[in-house]
Amino acid sequence: MDTLQLKERVAYHAVDTLFSEGKIFDGMKIGLGTGSTAMPAVHRISQLLSSGKLKNIYSVPTSFQTSIECEKLGIPIYSLSSRQIGGSLDLAIDGADEIDPDKNLIKGGGAALLKEKIIAYNSKEFVVIADDRKKVKSMGKGFALPIEIIPEARLSISKTLEAQGLTIILREGVKKMGPVVTDNGNFIIDVRWLDNAVVDPKALEESLNKITGVVENGFFTKNTPRIFVVDKDGNIEDL
Ligand code: A5P
Repeated sequence: MDTLQLKERVAYHAVDTLFSEGKIFDGMKIGLGTGSTAMPAVHRISQLLSSGKLKNIYSVPTSFQTSIECEKLGIPIYSLSSRQIGGSLDLAIDGADEIDPDKNLIKGGGAALLKEKIIAYNSKEFVVIADDRKKVKSMGKGFALPIEIIPEARLSISKTLEAQGLTIILREGVKKMGPVVTDNGNFIIDVRWLDNAVVDPKALEESLNKITGVVENGFFTKNTPRIFVVDKDGNIEDL
């Protein structure tokens, strides 16, 4: 199986498992993630809706990518603050960029980390789907940490982080000149630590957000997820 097939496999398996356990149910409020693993989960939910097995869900997408996909598939979408949703969800399902042994995550490879985190942290249950290349022993060694920042603070934030020994890259757009502009009108910086640095995701999730102009960072350490991971042979672990 190639990577896309593996992502589809784990996404379908997770949705089917959650449905059979009654965790995806009629009338539920569900957060829908962003990225190439979350999209097949959205498709599977759409199939359950079209077949009539699942009825009347209230979904909150985490990005324009997911909103547009829901619109194409006819899945009704709402804002987290809508009257129908009321600020909290039954379950959210999403991908991840890194997963450590304590189930801490790095997210934001698709620049959607802000809304992904708002939705993940306001869901009773948070489910992550990924291929096993995302599993790491410790964070900050492979995937750079995405941080969403207010454009005006680009240089001041970079100087603050560089003074702490971090390397910063302003994320560039694809088929767009200049930096990525997020769904919320902000920039993304991707940051790396020195190889020997001790990276404590829980402490850093708090401290990075205290820098003026940082909107949110891609460490997810608070709503510990249930994680479905697929290996290269298609075997799935439920962690
Ligand atoms: C989007 O901003 C991300 O958090 C994605 O959920 C994450 O990058 C995983 O993406 P893939 O499933 O495409 O690897």
